[in-house]
Amino acid sequence: MLDQFGRTIDYMRVSITDRCNLRCRYCMPDGISLVSMREIMTYEEIVETCAAAVRLGIRNFKITGGEPLSRLGCAGLIASLKKVTGVEQVTMTTNGVLLKKYLPELLAAGLDAVNISLDTLDPAKFERITGRNMLGEVLDSIDAALNSGLRTKINVVLQQGVNDDEWFRLASLAEYKMLDVRFIEMMPIGYGKNVTGISNDILRARFSASFPEIEIDPSVHGNGPAEYVRIPGWMGSIGFISAIHGKFCGSCSRVRLTSRGRLKPCLCYGETIDLLPVLRAGTAGTERKEALTAALREGIFRKPGQHCFENPEMVTETARMADIGG
Ligand code: 5AD
Ligand code: SF4
Repeated sequence: MLDQFGRTIDYMRVSITDRCNLRCRYCMPDGISLVSMREIMTYEEIVETCAAAVRLGIRNFKITGGEPLSRLGCAGLIASLKKVTGVEQVTMTTNGVLLKKYLPELLAAGLDAVNISLDTLDPAKFERITGRNMLGEVLDSIDAALNSGLRTKINVVLQQGVNDDEWFRLASLAEYKMLDVRFIEMMPIGYGKNVTGISNDILRARFSASFPEIEIDPSVHGNGPAEYVRIPGWMGSIGFISAIHGKFCGSCSRVRLTSRGRLKPCLCYGETIDLLPVLRAGTAGTERKEALTAALREGIFRKPGQHCFENPEMVTETARMADIGG
């Protein structure tokens, strides 16, 4: 459907848990989840909500967390979503630790693509950034995903003085592997407020200096706002998601559903529409369907025109990224 600014909203990110098996310093360094399972949407409630979203024109869904694979039964959810008439793509963002283990189930469920978060190729630095010594598991998962033929992207968030020196090494994964490497600018959400990222403008200048032959890749790679470039001879592309320095709100096509059942129209603002009261009202049939669709319609329509990350004092979102799903 169209929002109040005439943007087509056809993509929903669905967080299924705020828990995670890593402790990334800019996301959930404390590892604390204050949410009990009772407050988290059941898989049935998630499927029902997504089916209502499909009636409003949302076709593509991204399963996120926390870490989605840390919730048991994630592949079953994906299989259920893929069976909903009108659903086109169901993809997932994961830290990769458990991906190899669950890959057969996920492929059988019909998962269309995967984004794997990876900020470093150095085992010691991986432990420093994520609080866990699990780089090997993530690298094994990347290879398993590629060997299975699953469409794979790598998400990198650079932090000044921590891993920004690795931009070239991380990008080079796309030289010999059939994957895209995307650089996501650090956003001032949750603990990310305390960490200095690297502007993608600076990064793009570094790429252009190292690869004068770099060219814009105009092909569509997914649902997101990434801009892609190609380095001749490389197997995959390099993407830039420049939420801060390349504001792309005018073409935003997404809304978010948090694991607590709140529709979140924009990453920047705390405002949400609580769907749990509708889902748990004890109603049934058409009345229930209509109430859920109406709540979603209202939330999507009122989606703000743009974020305000350039004015941090105006950002009203106080949750951690793990509560939102990235
Ligand atoms: N800014 C940008 N990206 C973030 N992520 C988590 N917190 C932030 C932040 N503040 C990223 C993770 C992962 C994805 C789900 O979100 O690195 O790739
Ligand atoms: Fe977990 Fe992802 Fe947050 Fe790291 S960024 S703690 S992997 S949810």
